Amino acid sequence: MKDLTRCVMTPEVNIEGFKSLAVGVHRASTIVFDNAEDYSNRGDRGPDGYSYGLYGTPTTRTLEAKLTALEQGARTFLVPSGQAANTIAVLPFLKAGDGILITDSTYPPMRDFANTDLARFGVEVSYYNPVDLADLETKINDRTKIVWCESPGSTTMEVQDLPKIAAIAHRHGALVGCDNTWATPLNYKPLTHGADVVTEGLTKYISGHSDLLLGSLTVREEQLVAPIRSTLGRLGISVSPDDASMVLRGMETLGVRMRHAYEVAMSLIGRLQESEIVQRVIHPALPSDPGNPTWRRDFLGASAVFGVVFAPGIAGHVPPSLDVLKTFAIGASWGGTRSLVAPMSVKAHRSATTWPGDDLILRISVGLEDQRDLLDDIDALLAEITSRARGYR
Ligand SMILES: Cc1ncc(COP(=O)(O)O)c(C=O)c1O
Repeated sequence: MKDLTRCVMTPEVNIEGFKSLAVGVHRASTIVFDNAEDYSNRGDRGPDGYSYGLYGTPTTRTLEAKLTALEQGARTFLVPSGQAANTIAVLPFLKAGDGILITDSTYPPMRDFANTDLARFGVEVSYYNPVDLADLETKINDRTKIVWCESPGSTTMEVQDLPKIAAIAHRHGALVGCDNTWATPLNYKPLTHGADVVTEGLTKYISGHSDLLLGSLTVREEQLVAPIRSTLGRLGISVSPDDASMVLRGMETLGVRMRHAYEVAMSLIGRLQESEIVQRVIHPALPSDPGNPTWRRDFLGASAVFGVVFAPGIAGHVPPSLDVLKTFAIGASWGGTRSLVAPMSVKAHRSATTWPGDDLILRISVGLEDQRDLLDDIDALLAEITSRARGYR
């Protein structure tokens, strides 16, 4: 063998006895075969075999297997973002003339996708009140193929009665999809409460370090596997094993990160609730929250993302006051080690009837900084908003 060839060929090394606790990063587009017959018969390898990088590597399959076990599902698919998980969860099951019913509290890009792309392809897109089963009953019909849920809902945090929603949907032959990004499968398992497909924005808590984008969808039954797999293949969607390995690593600390952040969030919420400029804090674990009974019935825990609704006349002073924050960063994502705040505008993404309150909710995601620094920031923010509202600034 000549040197140029040596540079290209991979020598075999001994891997016997190499048992690492870390999952290896396997990169591949091309998969090679031991002989011509194996190549010809590659179609016989089935979905768990390897034939081309697009369809998975041992690294991506390891993450998929972990998520399948946590979600208590039949199979998981990785996709490049949480939003991609939501769109791929519904695309294979819709055609022109079908209907989709989406919770009015859905993540806004899902709404945009439905109103723009699904509508363009002739799917009838409608929205239902996330907590009003009668509204769902009125709007569902036999053309409805998907009922889309997100619990708690984006920003306004309504907790949905998934078992009852699933019973209505299934009676009409519709599938139920649920975006579980807020809770993660540690705190909620929608597939065990009637959902057929569950999606996760792995970008948030599960990877946990704000340094990548990835999403997953897990199905409850094998029969949903083939339509999703073939749609992904036709669209040419797959994910990087490097990103998957980062998620595998982040996920090992998911439980302790979430528990700690939740406890700190509760103490910050206590401080916020004492303030006269705060009308209410929205988080389903609070006994005063309308979603609390359903959350206690169905969920196993909670995350550290919550919303703050201000007293009348205060909201306009909130955005310019955020500049006093020293530990919180200003940004729209969540679930990482850094605490974040983002003023969220609700009404542009909602029917007026399902959010009658103020347009602005301050969304807070608690990270892993020292609780005392975060409390100092909350105090400084409340003082700044108060003084602006009194006209001192
Ligand atoms: C509830 C919810 N679902 C899905 C997503 C999308 O995740 P990604 O940013 O990975 O597309 C987000 C992102 O903010 C989200 O809040």
